[in-house]
Amino acid sequence: MQAVTEEQVLNALRVVQDPDLHRDIVALGFVKDIRICEGSVAFKVELTTPACPVKDLLKKQAEQEVAKIPGVTTVSVEMTAQVRSREKAAEELLPGVKNVIAVASGKGGVGKSTVAANLAIALQRTGARVGLLDADIYGPTMPLMMGSTHRPLMTETATGAKIVPVNAHGVLMMSLGLILDPDKAVVWRGPMIASAVRQMLGDVIWGNLDYLVVDLPPGTGDASLSLAQLVPISGVVIVTTPQAVAAEIANKSVIMFRTVGQGQGREIPILGVIENMSGSVFGTGGGTIAAEKFGVPLLGTIPLENGVCAGGDSGVPIVLSGPDSEAALSLNRIAGALAARLSVLQHEGAADKPEA
Ligand SMILES: Nc1ncnc2c1ncn2[C@@H]1O[C@H](COP(=O)(O)OP(=O)(O)OP(=O)(O)O)[C@@H](O)[C@H]1O
Ligand SMILES: [Mg+2]
Repeated sequence: MQAVTEEQVLNALRVVQDPDLHRDIVALGFVKDIRICEGSVAFKVELTTPACPVKDLLKKQAEQEVAKIPGVTTVSVEMTAQVRSREKAAEELLPGVKNVIAVASGKGGVGKSTVAANLAIALQRTGARVGLLDADIYGPTMPLMMGSTHRPLMTETATGAKIVPVNAHGVLMMSLGLILDPDKAVVWRGPMIASAVRQMLGDVIWGNLDYLVVDLPPGTGDASLSLAQLVPISGVVIVTTPQAVAAEIANKSVIMFRTVGQGQGREIPILGVIENMSGSVFGTGGGTIAAEKFGVPLLGTIPLENGVCAGGDSGVPIVLSGPDSEAALSLNRIAGALAARLSVLQHEGAADKPEA
């Protein structure tokens, strides 16, 4: 019998499509390190995020297709991931951070911080390197939600004193709440906001991260706007509650980010809408309304569950404290959908550019 060739393997794999990028995994350059030894074929499939929601499906399809080649006796597929980097200005501020995901909402109290904390952990649990920046100057709640309230350490570096982020459940976390005196109310003025944010971005040792999740202050007021302008955002997630009124207000933040993007001569992609506290007295539907109005995906809905609230209060977010709950399952799905959306955008961005 003829020996199996690399070309045969690649041809077989051309029918395996990435459902998000709408291309086959060979054309996308995902297939790596093909090794053939008589009838045994081994190769790697390198995805653009470890949080890929269809990882298992792709693996199975790849195995099945290669197994069909005459002469193949065993197939071994290793799934790996290399998160692609955003390519844009503000690189200097966060040189090692590949994607900055801003979590925003039109108004307060919709569960924005809860969602940000859980998404950060969900992404981390897929194997990604994740940071969480609490940029909510009004009410920095992340230290309590993530169960880490001690002051961060400072360290001397070649470029001056830097802040070491706190490790909370495997996520690198930094919050204004860790450095502000809780007994002193702070009245924020424009320049103060700017310098605080610059410090939280540039003076914190974030290192190499696949995703930095940023909890922005609620609303679309001046403070939120200047923050949105300062943080080098790769994409925005909008959190809303199910009421139509909340959805209406959520729309304001979509408009705000579009305006910020115009000011920067680029588009800040709205990755999608998350409906939180779904199925409660608030009903359902607000997320769908907001998503449809702005032509962005509804990334998912999170039910109102006691465990979500308790998880936040105890410093162990629901994806860890109640991983089998409906809310946790939904948050994990949303994390996967988000990572997929970012991969698609990066892919499209790269495709738009002429070859270097
Ligand atoms: N799906 C949910 N089920 C039950 N409780 C929830 C849910 N989502 C959030 N909560 C609770 O609602 C409260 C507000 O949530 P959170 O602090 O995350 O909102 P926020 O939008 O960040 O608020 P703020 O505008 O004050 O920053 C918290 O007590 C939180 O535990
Ligand atoms: Mg909050």
